Amino acid sequence: MAMPKQVRIVEVGPRDGLQAEPRTVPTEDKVALIHRLADAGIPAVEAGAFVSPKWVPQMADSEAVLNAIERRPGTVYPVLVPNMKGFERARAANVTEIATFSAASETFSQKNTNCSIAESLDRAAPVCEAGLAAGMRVRGYVSCALGCPYEREVDSDKVADLAGKLLAMGCYEISLGDTIGIGTPAKAHNMLQAVANEVPIEQLAVHFHDTYGQALANILACLELGVATIDSAVAGLGGCPYAPGAAGNVATEDVLYMLDGLNIETGIDFAAVVAAGQFICDTLGRTSTSKAAQAFLAKAA
Ligand code: HMG
Ligand code: MG
Repeated sequence: MAMPKQVRIVEVGPRDGLQAEPRTVPTEDKVALIHRLADAGIPAVEAGAFVSPKWVPQMADSEAVLNAIERRPGTVYPVLVPNMKGFERARAANVTEIATFSAASETFSQKNTNCSIAESLDRAAPVCEAGLAAGMRVRGYVSCALGCPYEREVDSDKVADLAGKLLAMGCYEISLGDTIGIGTPAKAHNMLQAVANEVPIEQLAVHFHDTYGQALANILACLELGVATIDSAVAGLGGCPYAPGAAGNVATEDVLYMLDGLNIETGIDFAAVVAAGQFICDTLGRTSTSKAAQAFLAKAA
């Protein structure tokens, strides 16, 4: 299949990017970040997670964030929802898109959500049903698509099976997560090909963490198979509190720079995303891992 001419970026920085930050990020800074990313033209900005605040304290203010943001027409603000309690919170916050999540590893499923893979699907089914009935769009995540922090190897057939089940529950798109950033391009290619037997490629997204510096190469391998939705996080923020050793997501700025070089449209203002990255890095007191942002800022200076 040919490379796509257009790619949709799903910005996960305000959720995946911040969920494992050790220091509490003030609600107004999360809101300001979301505004900046949406104003840059990003069509989907993951804005929070209605998960247990005991499990992920950093997302405890997701109601406040969702209530405070000014929603830009043309941008969606998905949130993670693990169960019906999370769904009710999302509905009360007038969310229009939710993301349910499962994992292709039993141990990770237990560590991250305190249930087996089968139980995670039993939780996801009513969430999908209720979301669709409420007129929401429902996205699905499959974590550990290229490896698990506890079990290491993960079978692509298992990833494909789970993705197919989430699709059957009504998810419009399944995002395949390399949660610990362990994959390499050939592995990513083979996994995506296996999943594409169950879910049309147009309904698949890729979500790479960049622990081993392979994320851009993996994305290119997946673009070559026709994938046209890419998850990324501004400034390369990110990590999962229950995936020890995982680094941040692939940086949105780096993805945009590569896509531009491939003549693939995103409709996103690169400089505005760099500025958003600078803002959140200043706020967090950390440096961006985005090489493209660093090079752009060095040149501008
Ligand atoms: P549990 O403790 O088994 O849940 O957690 P429970 O149903 O037994 O409830 C225990 C308590 O939690 C109760 O409160 C519930 O009300 C409360 P208590 O009676 O003790 O006061 N509770 C909730 N509170 C608020 N919102 C909720 C909620 N649910 C229960 N939704 C649970 C099970 C799934 C809730 C928990 O394990 C959890 O929240 N896990 C989420 C972990 C997480 O967010 N991980 C990071 C996101 S996944 C990720 O990063 C990967 C991804 O980026 C893709 C990739 O990279 O691969 C998406
Ligand atoms: Mg992730």
